[in-house]
Amino acid sequence: MSDPRHIAIIMDGNGRWATARGLPRSAGHRAGVESLRAIVHHAGVTGLEYLTFFAFSSENWSRPDGEVRELLALLKMFIRRDLADLHRKNVHISVIGERDNLSADVRGLLVEAESLTRGNTGLNLVIAFNYGARDEITRAVRSLAADVAAGRLDPQSISADLISANLDTSGMPDPDLIIRTSGEMRLSNFLLWQAAYAEFLFVPCPWPDFTPELFEEAIATYRNRERRFGGVEARASCHDKSQALSVAAASDGVAS
Ligand code: IPE
Ligand code: IPE
Ligand code: MG
Repeated sequence: MSDPRHIAIIMDGNGRWATARGLPRSAGHRAGVESLRAIVHHAGVTGLEYLTFFAFSSENWSRPDGEVRELLALLKMFIRRDLADLHRKNVHISVIGERDNLSADVRGLLVEAESLTRGNTGLNLVIAFNYGARDEITRAVRSLAADVAAGRLDPQSISADLISANLDTSGMPDPDLIIRTSGEMRLSNFLLWQAAYAEFLFVPCPWPDFTPELFEEAIATYRNRERRFGGVEARASCHDKSQALSVAAASDGVAS
């Protein structure tokens, strides 16, 4: 299969990584930023088109105040420290998630990162911060409902494409591959709409231990997956002669 255009990562396991080392959870989050840097750099060099990171969920506000403050401080530190370098590397940054309940200084930094890198044509780095898919879909529905109520939109013209266009990810391709670290096998309210046909990979290692080598292994696993999008197995349809022949060769035990 062809390479993924868009990889989305649920960076999970920072806290457990730290606890296992007798460190405070904040140390895990700081180590997690180093993994993030390494993967962004690697993806930029290898020419991936879109890379999305789940950095803070709309449900993560329920964590202890000190941890929430630490996560907000790390986001600010990451942007302040890395923005110039990312810009130099031609990285285009976008942030998805609800902005309204973020403080003015955080919102300012997000806008600065997006506007500085707007014209860049390299890796599209998407940061999901204060992001929850149900919240995103709710906001999209509210906006479409307002258009209908104002007489600007005919309910009959609401299509899947129109809904996609009203999500925070408007204009981006859906993720081809979603990776979650730390062994948890759930989406935790990440990209529910966009993940309709994504391939999933759950890796046991916690996020601070995730490396570019593991990222490449994940891509190699993806290449061996067969995506059907509701259709039938490509080889079974035998529409073209070369495929029919390769099936025959395979069933004869002959390498094609
Ligand atoms: C991921 O690590 C970072 C965020 C969710 C912000 P966790 O903090 O969830 O770490 P665990 O899952 O508790 O180990
Ligand atoms: C998902 O991880 C959110 C992020 C990685 C930012 P969580 O650690 O918050 O998810 P749950 O609570 O284990 O489902
Ligand atoms: Mg977690």
